[in-house]
Amino acid sequence: MSKYIKFSIYILGLGIFLCSCRNTQIKPINLEKTGSDYYQERYRPQFHFSPEAHWMNDPNGLVFFNGEYHLFYQYYPDSTVWGPMHWGHAVSADLIHWKHLPIALYPDSLGYIFSGSAVVDSMNTSGFGSAEKPPMVAIFTYHNPKLEKSGSKVFQNQGIAFSLDGGRVWTKYSANPVLKNPGIRDFRDPKMFWNEKIKKWNLIMAVYDRVYIYSSSDIKNWTFESEFGMGIGAHGGVWECPDLFPLRVKGSDITKWVMLVSINPGGPNSGSATQYFTGEFDGHKFVPDDTDTRWIDWGRDDYAGVTWSDIPRSDGRRIFIGWMSNWEYATVVPTTVWRSANTIPRELSLMYESGKYLLISQPVREFKNLRSKSDEVVIAPQSFSGEKEISTNHIPLMQSELLFDFNLSDPMIDTAGVILENSLNERFVIGYLPFQKQFYIDRRNAGNSDFSTEFASVASAPYSANINLKLHLLIDASSVELFVDDGRLVMTSLVFPTEKFTTLKLFSKGGSLQLNKAEFYGIERIWP
Ligand code: FRU
Repeated sequence: MSKYIKFSIYILGLGIFLCSCRNTQIKPINLEKTGSDYYQERYRPQFHFSPEAHWMNDPNGLVFFNGEYHLFYQYYPDSTVWGPMHWGHAVSADLIHWKHLPIALYPDSLGYIFSGSAVVDSMNTSGFGSAEKPPMVAIFTYHNPKLEKSGSKVFQNQGIAFSLDGGRVWTKYSANPVLKNPGIRDFRDPKMFWNEKIKKWNLIMAVYDRVYIYSSSDIKNWTFESEFGMGIGAHGGVWECPDLFPLRVKGSDITKWVMLVSINPGGPNSGSATQYFTGEFDGHKFVPDDTDTRWIDWGRDDYAGVTWSDIPRSDGRRIFIGWMSNWEYATVVPTTVWRSANTIPRELSLMYESGKYLLISQPVREFKNLRSKSDEVVIAPQSFSGEKEISTNHIPLMQSELLFDFNLSDPMIDTAGVILENSLNERFVIGYLPFQKQFYIDRRNAGNSDFSTEFASVASAPYSANINLKLHLLIDASSVELFVDDGRLVMTSLVFPTEKFTTLKLFSKGGSLQLNKAEFYGIERIWP
């Protein structure tokens, strides 16, 4: 045998060995990795962000700087379940394609690095950089496990770190912590932002089942301003990961402040979810418009979502991303080398309707660039009752975007919607109930669910549809995001079918449903 053939057999053998390792054991992140099995594991999202390997939860430190959207995230690099928290890091030029970077923040003697935020300190108020070279500054919660075990209450404190090289190298502030625990067990998840009105930084953080608001002129010294939340909103669990930002009301010159507050447990469909409030904020005190409880996403799998800081004024968008899971089962979902993905980044906007402010979420416009030019199907208008299979031609349903335009004018319709199905008869059902005025996502018989008794379930959401009803679905390997009527209602759901869903059906019971139009797109994968 020539030495070239021997060498080829050796390389082939090595390749097979490495591939088998990849699927059976957890390996350290290889930032240069590409290739045919890269990001191809069962249930691996193809166009959503997920860490290359190991455990991820909340998005952290979302900030735009020098043409890069930074995404930090709660990360445990030694396991696929939660553990001592680090900040993982990725960057993107378009919010869609992500590049993995080395871990940004490691735990130290003060504790694990829990959730927090980052800003560009463009006036160098912190003194960490200079006017010419403004620092990026991150604020996060130090969670000290030793203090926690000792029975102390003050094991969560806020620390800061800065970077002078566009977020690659981070230096922790030598005088950390900067915001000390006043004696409350749950004291975490600081989100800071510059407030032009008071010409100071504001900070909002979660404190047990409410939020505290602070201000500072240098990010190092914080003054308590007020608290919000007692007797308002949902209180089925602790409040976590708040955010607070101004948003112009569509079609007016009114600007409202929007507060996001994640809550766990106590979500509308069990477990984790994110509520929001609208109101006035003067840099000191948040005054809500009403006492209603509203949810940014009614599905079971959108948690701890916050928005990007420092988006240029010329862009002006408020962009949100959430962790696509739920603490009820996050640590046991049936994925292999990694656990958890994020939602698609969403643009938030505010509408005033029937005396209420409504937060609208839509996939960021950059997402459209992933529509595969060769994979586009347009379905002609038709009317039907019962179940009807709709051809998606060669579009891979598990990596697709589906848009439907329905007409619900038949008053006899009991329920109507969309079914994703496989040859094992597993079905993921999205339906609307006109009489109950309710949407639902039924994943009770949609595949693998024996990893948790909490997973198989029906999630529902109140919704008053008009005659015309638009559904917009993003389907990616193990998740479905539903946007109803241009984002007035959003429901995000994980699903783990035993075999891929390959059949798309529409259904209408009681009366006949008119489909005005449908458009389907194959979506390109974002990984090399
Ligand atoms: C929310 C959360 C945060 C905390 C982080 C810890 O999911 O519990 O409150 O900072 O996760 O990983």
